[in-house]
Amino acid sequence: MALENINPSGTAAWQELMQHFAEMQHASMKDMFASDKERTAKFNIQWNDFIVDYSKNIINEKTLQLLQDLAQQANLKGAVEAYFGGDAINRTEGRAVLHTALRAPSSADIKVDGVNVLPEVYAVKNKIKQFCDVIINGGKTGYTGKAFTDVVNIGIGGSDLGPAMVVESLKFYKNQLNVRFISNVDGDHVMESLKGLNPETTLFVIASKTFTTQETLSNAETVRAWFLQSAKQEDVAKHFVAVSTNIQKVTEFGIAEDNIFPMWDWVGGRFSLWSAVGLTIALAVGFDNFDKLLKGANEMDEHFRTTPHDKNIPVVLALLSIWYNNFFGAESEALIPYTQYLQKLAPYLQQGIMESNGKSIGRDGKAVNYQTGTIIWGEPGTNSQHAFFQLIHQGTKLIPTDFIGFIQPLHGNKDHHDKLMSNFFAQTEALLNGKTEAQVQAEFDKAGVAADKADYLRPFKVFAGNKPTNTLLIKKLTPETLGSLIALYEHKIFVQGVIWNIFSYDQWGVELGKQLANSILDEINSGTVKTHDSSTTLLLEKFLGK
Ligand code: F6P
Repeated sequence: MALENINPSGTAAWQELMQHFAEMQHASMKDMFASDKERTAKFNIQWNDFIVDYSKNIINEKTLQLLQDLAQQANLKGAVEAYFGGDAINRTEGRAVLHTALRAPSSADIKVDGVNVLPEVYAVKNKIKQFCDVIINGGKTGYTGKAFTDVVNIGIGGSDLGPAMVVESLKFYKNQLNVRFISNVDGDHVMESLKGLNPETTLFVIASKTFTTQETLSNAETVRAWFLQSAKQEDVAKHFVAVSTNIQKVTEFGIAEDNIFPMWDWVGGRFSLWSAVGLTIALAVGFDNFDKLLKGANEMDEHFRTTPHDKNIPVVLALLSIWYNNFFGAESEALIPYTQYLQKLAPYLQQGIMESNGKSIGRDGKAVNYQTGTIIWGEPGTNSQHAFFQLIHQGTKLIPTDFIGFIQPLHGNKDHHDKLMSNFFAQTEALLNGKTEAQVQAEFDKAGVAADKADYLRPFKVFAGNKPTNTLLIKKLTPETLGSLIALYEHKIFVQGVIWNIFSYDQWGVELGKQLANSILDEINSGTVKTHDSSTTLLLEKFLGK
């Protein structure tokens, strides 16, 4: 079943939400907390090792009811069935969207074009396991018989961001293999990344779903040429493996069939870390930890698929985000993990969220008449507190923020963890309550500040507060909880795309720049600038030294 075409702004729920927004836009969270002792009990979800507290939002029970009505009127339930059932919901590319099948149990039966994909999924998983085991334990060696010490992942977009983020996030669980990522076609980045590597002990994983991506192919060729400065052509087979759907192109590149880890067109690039694109993850943390990551994601899939909308974490977070994006006019959302391990989560989700929902044409083929994809950004706390938090607290923009923290640290340093987490709790409380004029004056009185100075300084020191936050408090950062966390945001993306009536799983918007870059490269190679706008012509001529 295709996704239905339902303009959300034409639903009764949307109209009611507009009226409700007029009542709520100046509502004070502080007052709502004061008048309802049950507020947090009502507005939190506890699931597995997660507590998701969404009580610090500008909402009441009616808001949530209307948002759920919106989900119902957009037929979210039917869309979820189509998504998990393998229907071709990526209609503009005629494909199913089945990253969820990659983490389903082997007993599942998920069909694409009438064929259960699980046997193939498990055959590839098994190949990943066997390969990782022999690389990690030294059973398979490089061309001089030495064990591998380094792994270099060559890929871009989804073939880089997911593995790079997970390897960084699970650093605590890493084995002895050093892992690097080459993504940008910037030659300086490639050469810097190769510095200090020994070709005899380095394994290269070329990850590209299409195997046509300019950056990845150029980088792979440069790296192979670097490798061949020390090794022979026949040694390539021992040191280069590839992950792709395009077996023909990989073979043409010179990679032996045995060294190819296949994936399928029903896995979107930005959702592919669960497939063989996760090979680098499995090499870095071992197959068992990779499997636990998948298990955690599968648990979130089950929660999302089967839990009623009012207790469903991805649905609730997606609806709250729609509330701010479409009714409050919020332009962006921040994501602040209170662990340095998750420093790549926001850049990873930028692709997931913005490549998926950065669309302006509805499923009816017409321009939408409402806002779609949110801008997502963030950095770990507490670093971000000393960088951009000023704007979240006292700027003119409304920035709903997700705070992600862990009850247990991994290295057990209690003193540091208590300091880190006291900041975590303090920030959402400060964003909620702000600081009133009376509180500021009380501080002046205590410090003996003169009246004229106090009158001048007071407005600058007042914090309006009432800034919405979600708090995700998780027991511990493990492969399982990380898997669940990533899957949570994947499903949030899905819910929003369904309600915004857009196609979340294509990415035509990145094509134009790629096409133009190819024709400009021809001009650079031939030294002739063709017809462009006058700005591009001037810049190209300067670049060519004309
Ligand atoms: O940026 C466009 C895009 O197609 C992404 O969706 C994808 O993750 C990336 O390029 C890399 O593509 P590939 O894995 O095919 O090299």
